[in-house]
Amino acid sequence: MKIKVGLIGFGRMGQMYWEEMQKSGRWDIAYICDIDPASRELARNLSPSSRIISDEQEIFDDQSVEAVGLFALANSRKEQIEKAVHSGKHILTEKPIADTIDKEWEIVDLIEKYDKIAAVNLYLRNSWYHQAMKQFIAEGEIGELAILRICHMTPGLAPGEGHEYEGPAYHDCGMHYIDIARWYAGSEYKSWHAQGMRMWDYKDPWWVQCHGTFENGIVFDVTQGFVYGQLSQNQTHNAYTDIIGTKGIVRMTHDFRTAIVELHGVSRTLRLEKPFGGKNLDKLCNLMADSIESGKRDPGLPLMRDSAVASQYGWTFLDDARCHDLPGIGNLQTLEEIRERRRHMKDGYGLLRPKKTIV
Ligand SMILES: NC(=O)c1ccc[n+]([C@@H]2O[C@H](COP(=O)([O-])OP(=O)(O)OC[C@H]3O[C@@H](n4cnc5c(N)ncnc54)[C@H](O)[C@@H]3O)[C@@H](O)[C@H]2O)c1
Repeated sequence: MKIKVGLIGFGRMGQMYWEEMQKSGRWDIAYICDIDPASRELARNLSPSSRIISDEQEIFDDQSVEAVGLFALANSRKEQIEKAVHSGKHILTEKPIADTIDKEWEIVDLIEKYDKIAAVNLYLRNSWYHQAMKQFIAEGEIGELAILRICHMTPGLAPGEGHEYEGPAYHDCGMHYIDIARWYAGSEYKSWHAQGMRMWDYKDPWWVQCHGTFENGIVFDVTQGFVYGQLSQNQTHNAYTDIIGTKGIVRMTHDFRTAIVELHGVSRTLRLEKPFGGKNLDKLCNLMADSIESGKRDPGLPLMRDSAVASQYGWTFLDDARCHDLPGIGNLQTLEEIRERRRHMKDGYGLLRPKKTIV
């Protein structure tokens, strides 16, 4: 029996979930809801067997719908999660789980008393490369874990293109890296210092580096910026995880197609090269389906609490960057050129799916 689900939000992520859910054959996508007529038109064309709607209430009122997928933007999430709880549906949601820290913690309180399956997409936790590195560390191969250096810089989403409720890049995207650092450390953030750059003189920093400590003494450095050569002729990126122990190291890098993991342990040296795996939505949707079918939450499903913690530190580190010298370099004219270039790009980093895909 397929799991009857209603999807809310059919933009870049919603379409990706739709594809994966279709492919797996485990989901009956009964409804697709979007407030934007162009997204609904696209949904009608792609998914003729789904009911395409603009009023999400229909999904919550339909008692035969078992689960909801919440893939709109952060400003509508809290209300949708509350409606899902009140109508007794399983919840698969995008991050962040709301648009302010207070609302996120209200959701955590609500969900922790809820007996249905609820999970959030912290996709790095489901990636083969982070799992391989964590396993190697757990085997004692690098001695004691001491230093975490994580960096993700791409010519991605520019200020003003979308995701305004998700905050500047360091919160919107950076919260994944803040989460994965905490996942490796197995401890809570204790101290930090953040440095930002208001690239192109934009009001918010679009590049931030934060370093500090965890309660257990492990130190971190999380760098994130969508400022990496936006107007270069051939765009590139720089994304790595570099983990240093008392005896060995592990590290990874990727080009969005292939990920390479290098494990330099005391007794083993390995180089793993496998497909990157994108957002790993196939894994997430399968874990969710397994959990719904068995009635037992798979421990691999990320918790609302993990998302709230990562989001909270995303905002905290951004605030910290604002407390220090925060230079602005460049000008808004360059930012306008970047937006203009991205508007016409067919293949680029983090492009929001065009609204009018149907010709
Ligand atoms: N986990 C990840 O790796 C990851 C990556 C990208 C985006 N995201 C998250 O996914 C969410 C969606 O991002 P996206 O890139 O798909 O954005 P998007 O702008 O491409 O899509 C959002 C869609 O939701 C629709 N929408 C907005 N408010 C709505 C409402 N109240 N009801 C119904 N539909 C509504 C919009 O019309 C749009 O079609 C964001 O919150 C973002 O933080 C997560």
